[in-house]
Amino acid sequence: KKILVLNGPNLNLLGTREPAQYGSTTLADVEAMCRAAGERLGFEVECFQSNWEGALIDRIQEYGRLCKEGKALGCVFNPGAYTHTSVALHDAIKGVDLPVIECHISNVHAREAFRHHSYISPAAAGIVVGFGVAGYVVALEGLVRRHDPDNA
Ligand code: DQA
Repeated sequence: KKILVLNGPNLNLLGTREPAQYGSTTLADVEAMCRAAGERLGFEVECFQSNWEGALIDRIQEYGRLCKEGKALGCVFNPGAYTHTSVALHDAIKGVDLPVIECHISNVHAREAFRHHSYISPAAAGIVVGFGVAGYVVALEGLVRRHDPDNA
C-alpha cells in the first residue's frame, strides 16, 4: 500500500528558506527520510511537492481514489501557506474522504496571528506541529498506527 507525502508552496526551498524557522535540511533529505520510514513501516511512500494549489488538489483526488480501491492508506500533508487560505484544499480532502495528517515544521501557533487558523485542520485525521522536519516521520507513524494500532 502507498502513502503520499505531499508538500505545498515554497517547501521546495527547504534548507535555504528561513533556516531559523525551518532548519537546514533540504526537501530531498526529508523525502528520503520519509521513504525510509515508509519502508520500516511496510508502506511505499510517494513524495510530491508543488507550488500550485490545483496540482495539490489533483494528487489529493488521486489518493482518495487509491484509498477507496484499497491501494493507499492516506497522506501526510504540509500545505505551507495554503493552510491559512485554501477552502479548495479543505474541500478536496473532504470530497474524497482521504485520511490526512496535517504537518507543520514550525509551531505555527507561536508565530504570527495569520498562521493560527488552518482551513485544513477540520478536514484532517490528525495534526503534527512544531517538531521540525522530524514531524513528517511522526505523522507517518501516526497515520499507520491509526490504521493498525499494533504497527509503528
Ligand atoms: C509551514 C507553516 C506555514 O505557516 C508556512 O506558510 C509554511 C510552512 C510549516 O511547515 O511550518 O510554508 O507549513
